[in-house]
Amino acid sequence: MIIAIDGPAAAGKGTLAQNLAKHFKYAFLDTGRLYRAVGYAVLQAGKDPSDKTEATKAAKAFDPKSINQILSNPALREEATGNAASKVAVIPSVREVLLQLQRDFAEHPFFEDGTPAKGAVLDGRDIGTVVCPKADVKFFVTASAEVRTDRRFKELKDAGKPADYDVILKDIKERDERDSKRATAPLKPAEDAYVLDTSNMNATQAYQAALDFIAINHA
Ligand code: DC
Repeated sequence: MIIAIDGPAAAGKGTLAQNLAKHFKYAFLDTGRLYRAVGYAVLQAGKDPSDKTEATKAAKAFDPKSINQILSNPALREEATGNAASKVAVIPSVREVLLQLQRDFAEHPFFEDGTPAKGAVLDGRDIGTVVCPKADVKFFVTASAEVRTDRRFKELKDAGKPADYDVILKDIKERDERDSKRATAPLKPAEDAYVLDTSNMNATQAYQAALDFIAINHA
């Protein structure tokens, strides 16, 4: 059983994916973290994330066995890493390397301790369209740019970090533009995805709506 969750930055797909994975006891993969890890590695090497050769080299350097350790680095959550991720994600050869990693996980999902799982929840931008086009359930989670900015702003404030509303809104709009306009695997809902607009929902309501959809359509 595979549940694919796509959508723009800060729409609530990560929280929904983790809640569903916990509910069904499935393994979870935040695929954005893979792109973030590549972006981070390029930044750490002092190179430009838009540099095709450097970014591809960083993607190929991943050892699938140490993926959990790589993806647990807290630095991957930083805004600067998110921007670098969005830049490396435009490069087809980077996507190709990461595509295989994601498909392997979807085919043989495993928990953080390495034990196999009977299902997987993957969240990202192209899970329902490219990575797992045959996923059993597909959600496209979205919300207005302003609502997403409010959420990010609050998250940063709550974490005691500096936050500027206008800068975050600009960043979110730029990332939406780059993610949806790129030639390879752009951000868009799969034809058979259930679009969940969370602009007027909290995390619990979005989770409930997703569970209701699964109960009705995949009983
Ligand atoms: O979901 P996120 O903000 O952690 O993702 C970071 C970037 O990675 C995002 O701007 C686009 C890219 N990405 C992608 O192109 N495809 C995915 N499946 C996941 C993320």
